[in-house]
Amino acid sequence: MDVVIAPEDELGEIVADEIATLFAARPDAVLGLATGSSPLRIYDAVAARVAQGRLSLARARGFMLDEYVGLAPGHPCRYSTVIDQDFVSRVDFAPGAVLGPDGDADDLDAACADYEEAIRAAGGVDLQILGIGTDGHIAFNEPGSSLASRTRVKTLTAQTREDNARFFDGDVDTVPRHCLTQGLGTIMEARRIVLVATGDAKAEAVAQLVEGAVSARWPATVLQHHRRVMVLVDEAAASSLELADYYRDTRTHRHLVS
Ligand code: F6R
Repeated sequence: MDVVIAPEDELGEIVADEIATLFAARPDAVLGLATGSSPLRIYDAVAARVAQGRLSLARARGFMLDEYVGLAPGHPCRYSTVIDQDFVSRVDFAPGAVLGPDGDADDLDAACADYEEAIRAAGGVDLQILGIGTDGHIAFNEPGSSLASRTRVKTLTAQTREDNARFFDGDVDTVPRHCLTQGLGTIMEARRIVLVATGDAKAEAVAQLVEGAVSARWPATVLQHHRRVMVLVDEAAASSLELADYYRDTRTHRHLVS
């Protein structure tokens, strides 16, 4: 795991550099897209590069991580609406190039199976962007999720619904109880993963992710079994890491492999 502790306003540019390097080598690469607050600086940095003509996603594909159940297309809190506003409409993806699981489908299990097949048919995800929940979820794999899980229906924890009430005018009762989410096993198939976390509310989850025992209690810990993960955190999110000085040191004295 590559742990990078940097000021919040630098995190987006660091990931945008990784994305630019990927697309320079492979213009038709597949991105995995998280929704929520954590990736916004990444999306801002990528959108700026696309506007400047330094990067193009015209041949890219994108796959979202998750979607609420029961929000109709166009609902302002539906993740497909949110990712469109936050990112897709600001860059040059081809129409239809970004997909998400359909949380409004009549047959949710079939929608999950179709989504797994769509990711497979696209050749899998080259670079997956992740946030982390205060309870240690990635995508919406809440504590207790199978470390081998695939895209499926999950029930959100009370903590996650409270955390996300800010997107629903502060009304937790209107936050859906269920979602469709890529599984931990699905996410682990991405060839490269970058996880971004900021703020002290994420400190415990980040400490568990990087230094805790691998366990379904803290689902993000499954990433310890992935060979190419970068964890980018600001000082607040890094504040519970026992080995923070070591991670800073490794960045200062980086061993560059040719
Ligand atoms: C969203 C997602 C979630 C969020 C997590 C953190 O697609 O997969 O795992 O990344 O809930 O949310 P923020 O970034 O809003 O704190």
